[in-house]
Amino acid sequence: MNAKPEDREERHRDRGVDAHHGHGAKQPRAFDPERAAILDEPERFDYLPPARIFALLEAPAASLVVDFGTGTGAFAIPLAESRPDLTVIALDREERMLALLRGKPAAQRLDNLRPMLTGEMAALAASADRILAVNVLHELDEEALRQMAGLLKPQGFILFVDWDGAVERPVGPPGAHVYTAAEAVLRLASFGLRAEPLAALSYHFVLRAGRAEGPF
Ligand SMILES: C[S@@+](CC[C@H](N)C(=O)[O-])C[C@H]1O[C@@H](n2cnc3c(N)ncnc32)[C@H](O)[C@@H]1O
Repeated sequence: MNAKPEDREERHRDRGVDAHHGHGAKQPRAFDPERAAILDEPERFDYLPPARIFALLEAPAASLVVDFGTGTGAFAIPLAESRPDLTVIALDREERMLALLRGKPAAQRLDNLRPMLTGEMAALAASADRILAVNVLHELDEEALRQMAGLLKPQGFILFVDWDGAVERPVGPPGAHVYTAAEAVLRLASFGLRAEPLAALSYHFVLRAGRAEGPF
């Protein structure tokens, strides 16, 4: 049998800590673009239902949404398809991931989807109405979290959907490489983000996080 999705990253354990990965990330290694295919495996969407996630995102009409750590666009593409009024920035630090996204026919048809490398994101400062971060928080170092918070409009919020370290799971990284919801709330507070838990998914916590001085 194939290894369980996202368990496979553990095969690379002996590669050591990735120099690309800065201080503060709970996951010791960055996501390996060679494993990108697992992000498009259909069974993922049984426990990460896009429609439910998009409903929780509550993107206002004609707003700007950043899918932070978009990978192959597994969520950015259906979001842009289902909401043509939105502008969806599909942001990643890995050109190899964005190349896979751009290669998808659905992505090529969408006028409201903009793939972007993190090196270009300064132009987006304080302009995102919503930020979506699926399976990304445990990979983000301190610098990345600061950058992410800086993208948010004062009234906006970030929807974090991440593997729950408190839940026994048949898939995903080990509990020690991810956060519990409570740990994530504490971590976000140190970046000036006030996070509140929303109803959890089977293996993931869901947090809505806004600026501490903002409405959420
Ligand atoms: C596990 S994948 C999740 C991809 C996508 N969100 C999904 O669920 O299908 C994590 C992604 O986050 C990206 N990533 C990690 N750290 C990042 C950072 N600091 N800035 C932007 N992207 C980052 C990785 O390159 C990878 O594509």
